[in-house]
Amino acid sequence: MGTMGHPATKTLGILTAGGDCPGLNAAIRGVCRAAYDRYGMNILGIANGYRGLIEGDVRFLKPEDFSGILTRGGTILGTSREKPFQPGGRADHDFSFHGDMQGDMHTEGKVQAIKEYYQEFKLDCLVVLGGNGTTTTGYRLSQEGLNVIGLPKTIDNDIVGTDLTFGFHSALSIGTEAIDRLHSTAQSHNRVMVIELMGHKAGWLALYAGLAGGGDVILIPEIPYDIKTIGRHLIKRAQNGKSFSIVVVAEGALSIEEEEMEKKDRKKYREKTALAYRVAQEIERETGMETRATVLGYVQRGGIPCASDRVLATSLGTAAVELLARGEYGKMVALQGTEIRPVDLQVPAGKVKSVPLDYYMLDSAVAVGTCLGR
Ligand code: F6P
Repeated sequence: MGTMGHPATKTLGILTAGGDCPGLNAAIRGVCRAAYDRYGMNILGIANGYRGLIEGDVRFLKPEDFSGILTRGGTILGTSREKPFQPGGRADHDFSFHGDMQGDMHTEGKVQAIKEYYQEFKLDCLVVLGGNGTTTTGYRLSQEGLNVIGLPKTIDNDIVGTDLTFGFHSALSIGTEAIDRLHSTAQSHNRVMVIELMGHKAGWLALYAGLAGGGDVILIPEIPYDIKTIGRHLIKRAQNGKSFSIVVVAEGALSIEEEEMEKKDRKKYREKTALAYRVAQEIERETGMETRATVLGYVQRGGIPCASDRVLATSLGTAAVELLARGEYGKMVALQGTEIRPVDLQVPAGKVKSVPLDYYMLDSAVAVGTCLGR
């Protein structure tokens, strides 16, 4: 590194954490190019999310490391769901703050290790690229005295404080194409096709792909569904000469009966089968129509980022470096309207951005004849 060791030169540590998504490498490139070319900063790449900072698994990045990665899927740094503040370290869909309230030793050890490595590597700032869990951890580390800057990524688009996360539009294209492909086979066989898209807590992906792909039913976690309403909708379509239907479900969608269950009973009940298979069975039982299920799974997160994710990831990356250069820490860079703004990490920490029940797209979906399960 050209200016390494110069007292005024800042050193940043960069990591990617949580589920991967298209656009992570574009964001890494944006951060590294701006930091290196514009400010001559030193860049320490941290392997596999927060785990790399617990274990000291790091290496300085050189220009050749972040060259040619704009269009590549995944993350050159690797990722993990390590959550240093959470006992056991991995609770994928729990973004709460209660992780180590009982003073879990292991947890304290991990946080201590992170703080020590941060000092040892002489970091001026930790740049964390991730979703809700990553951002929440970033906020907690900033409360522990570390300088942290966050970049919001996730195919779920469920981070509070930003209009959009990178990864979302790439996954949306993949989900929409899958729905398009199901259309022709559903039509040929006069079947109901249920397709499950990701989105554990929020239904953004299912709603957008469902609307883009002309889904006849769209089920999202924010609106618990009534299978009888869905059955009536599908039967009415058939009576109107539409002998096939497409049902788009977010993985976290739930029925009104499930909504009433105790959280732990619901968890146990849902562990048995992927939602799409259960919904397909319920539809067959309710309507007598031949129904098939598809779970799109990790295909949604793989592969190259679409053009808009590349642009967003690059812009967020370079904006993060501007914050760093100004010494504005404890912030996440966020797209708000047509601008990229700094937002306090406290804003997204511990929260999930759900689809609001008065969101314009819900009304649009209903207006074009889509059933939302209620
Ligand atoms: O957080 C993004 C996400 O893609 C969710 O939609 C999904 O529930 C989850 O990751 C699954 O991730 P993994 O199985 O890799 O932990």
